Amino acid sequence: MALNLNSKYSQNFFTNEELSALKPEIEAAHISLKERNGLGNDFLGWINLPFDYDKDEFERIKKAAEKIKNDTDVFIVIGIGGSYLGARAAIEFLKGSYYNSTCKDTPQVYFSGNSISGSELSDLLKICEGKRVSVNVISKSGTTTEPAVAFRVFRKYLEERYGEEEAAKRIYCTTDKARGTLKAVADQKGYETFVIPDDVGGRFSVLTAVGLLPIAVAGGDIDALMKGAADAARDYDIPDMDNNPCYQYAALRNVFYRKGKSVEILVSYQPRFTMMAEWFKQLYGESEGKENKGIFPASVTFSTDLHSMGQYIQDGTRLMFETVVNIKDNGDDIVIEEAEDNGDGLNFLAGKSMSFVNEKAFEGTILAHVDGGAPNLVITIDKADEANLGRLIYFFEKACAISGYVLKVNPFDQPGVEAYKKNMFALLGKPGYEELREELVKRISK
Ligand code: PA5
Repeated sequence: MALNLNSKYSQNFFTNEELSALKPEIEAAHISLKERNGLGNDFLGWINLPFDYDKDEFERIKKAAEKIKNDTDVFIVIGIGGSYLGARAAIEFLKGSYYNSTCKDTPQVYFSGNSISGSELSDLLKICEGKRVSVNVISKSGTTTEPAVAFRVFRKYLEERYGEEEAAKRIYCTTDKARGTLKAVADQKGYETFVIPDDVGGRFSVLTAVGLLPIAVAGGDIDALMKGAADAARDYDIPDMDNNPCYQYAALRNVFYRKGKSVEILVSYQPRFTMMAEWFKQLYGESEGKENKGIFPASVTFSTDLHSMGQYIQDGTRLMFETVVNIKDNGDDIVIEEAEDNGDGLNFLAGKSMSFVNEKAFEGTILAHVDGGAPNLVITIDKADEANLGRLIYFFEKACAISGYVLKVNPFDQPGVEAYKKNMFALLGKPGYEELREELVKRISK
């Protein structure tokens, strides 16, 4: 079993007729994607990416990753949104959330340029002290403020430390093939450059150099990752949703949404999945949340968040459904031992593994939440390896596109992101924003 979708914990929340009624919409969405005539059809490059990628560049990525493994202790990945979340999510999924403390033959990987926090950036510079450093700056537009600021700082740092020539050999640039200031700087300075294809949007770009270089540097097997995605691309190309769990998931989300469940909580019981949920939230939030529509994507890691958000999910406003990603085999495990004094009263768990206890937490929670009125879907994968990761990435991307088309929005644009940027630029005094600045300053100082 590669990936299984189980809707048995939702049976009391929808009828088969309600689900079947969505079939024509799902099939229409499938055809729009196939014939490339739906909304945002300039950005469908991710569909065939698992087969149809630049093989020469793929080899260059592997070669660069080998060089970085040999000459680098700390690898800084600069990017935000789709130019950061996928790589970080993949590395934590594959290597665990303590990767930077447990890695042995591969560099530590830190992510920067995903906030405007000066203290974070200066902490990261301290981490670099005495370590061999390389940088991968990632920006499709090549103009995004957060990564551009971080890159300016790191470029100066590397040039002062290594001199311009050696610094240029330690900077890897992932950007548009021709446009943007980043591309211009890369060409001028002679950095090794990787391309984000024109027809692949940021949040759908993890299987391009955006994700592949950092993943390979951290020791991930990117061949197996692409193979997992390619298998998924074949499996989830079936128009009939009864035989396509990806389309069933897209349909069920819309059934719940139409019945007032406007929040989807992605749940996992493994901390290694927490960043995957962040990636998921960007994918679905930016793709669906527009025109006053869309399911709000949220996430929790259990059992951690059962001690915080669990109360709300059990008893709060009844507006959510949960999608649990259940990973069966999580590698190393700990067996709870018998204690002679049984002072903590835990001897009833003696001989049981932590994964067994976790499984009971999962089963107990799902029944409680269903009883509390939250429908649950369960996606099960066998283990946290590259093949399953590739499959999961493709599953969520395809379901997102189908679900967005069912919702009748363009899943591939993000016009709403510009609103804050305009205001920020005006307030920062960027040339060209003078009039807006005056208006905003008046509003703020009222
Ligand atoms: O999904 C998207 O398109 C966005 O989240 C972008 O990835 C993000 O804004 C970063 O953009 P860029 O890669 O152009 O710096």
